[in-house]
Amino acid sequence: MNERRTLKINEKGHLEIGGCDSVELAARFGTPLYVFDEKYIRDMMAVYRDAIKAFYGGKGLVLYASKAFSCLAVYRIAAQEGIGVDVVSGGELYTALKAGFPADKIFMHGNNKLPQELEFAVSAGVGTIVVDAYDEADMIDELCAAAGRSQDVLVRINPGVEAHTHAFVQTARTDSKFGFSVSDGTAENITKYILAKPHLRLKGYHCHIGSQIFEKQSFVLAAGKAMDFIAAVKADTGFEAQTLNIGGGFGIWYTDEDAKLGAGDYAGYLEALAGEVKAKAAELGLSLPFLVIEPGRSVVGEAGVTLYTAGAVKDIPGVKKYVAVDGGMFDNPRYALYQSKYTVLLANRANEKCTERVTIAGKCCESGDIIAVDCALPAARRGDIVAVLSTGAYNYSMASNYNRNFIPPAVLVKDGSAEYIIKPQTYEDLVRNDVLPDRLK
Ligand SMILES: Cc1ncc(COP(=O)(O)O)c(C=O)c1O
Repeated sequence: MNERRTLKINEKGHLEIGGCDSVELAARFGTPLYVFDEKYIRDMMAVYRDAIKAFYGGKGLVLYASKAFSCLAVYRIAAQEGIGVDVVSGGELYTALKAGFPADKIFMHGNNKLPQELEFAVSAGVGTIVVDAYDEADMIDELCAAAGRSQDVLVRINPGVEAHTHAFVQTARTDSKFGFSVSDGTAENITKYILAKPHLRLKGYHCHIGSQIFEKQSFVLAAGKAMDFIAAVKADTGFEAQTLNIGGGFGIWYTDEDAKLGAGDYAGYLEALAGEVKAKAAELGLSLPFLVIEPGRSVVGEAGVTLYTAGAVKDIPGVKKYVAVDGGMFDNPRYALYQSKYTVLLANRANEKCTERVTIAGKCCESGDIIAVDCALPAARRGDIVAVLSTGAYNYSMASNYNRNFIPPAVLVKDGSAEYIIKPQTYEDLVRNDVLPDRLK
């Protein structure tokens, strides 16, 4: 736990978040329940926003990558904190606009934006669209021609750096559905293609090198390569990019295998990045680009805790012990997708000594329906409140109604008060869009 986190164990031995006793939250709102710490989210947005001011003279913008967690409240918070957002679908765009988010501070991403999503983005006046295909450039240009306007765009490039948690590699050729490679000339080709489009204003480039990255150097390397590319394009075409968007991917703490980064560490990513961009601009004779970053996980990940109620406890002697909870892969599919690791506590007995290692299983009809493995806990009993930490990113946003379970509600906590930001679903919600055609009646 770190200095921005309001998580603590209170005098009752209960887990507390945002000044709220998590056992009381479970009793009041039921479980499973996503709990979001407003202070943490705001503090992280401010850390990045202020770091751009401190290390880059404010010539840049933080975009919250809303794929990590999208709902009205989080866009409203981002707007209040004065940052931008990125969206990757019509649904995220709709939610942002519905929250009153200023369209000019929205960046639209996606490797296969649908024609109707592009139409929506252009008609809503989205600030920037990040182009990821030739015919997407055609479609945006045609939409703008019809609307009598023009559109700022970036091109998504692959600078030849791929980063993973504790390592990064330089790749000559990128095998990815995203972006255009710098190394094989495709990034420069699409640049020329877009420059010839009358209604597109090419502002520069975007890249995103990976996620859950702790190596600062990987961002520095990517930024350096992107600046080299900007210089090469300028030499070949005379076009000098004004914007460089370096994406997101800053790592967070899930378990003690991960570093616990403080505000200064996250600002440090920006310091290193800004230092490299400035040095490269000076070396290559380029003007300083407008610098954009898109953190998602690091803004909301550690802000979230999921509360469950323990149900069946099954001990398979000599094999393992399962503690089943009232949620599962429908509220958190990350173990099923990536074997992700989490830290788990018993929120109602948070002071008790851990005496066993258990697997936390969900309630879906799927043996891969696991939330976390190898969790050190006191002996869990039916009725215990199980808290899974760092679930704020890519949990709710990846949730489903698998097995017709409810996607859990979410509450926002701050200074001891808790309010819904996502209401509970009902059985009626589950059948709302079902239809019985006449021949089945
Ligand atoms: C284009 C882009 N930007 C930003 C992000 C956010 O990354 P993270 O949540 O790791 O910060 C992603 C994540 O996949 C992405 O694809």
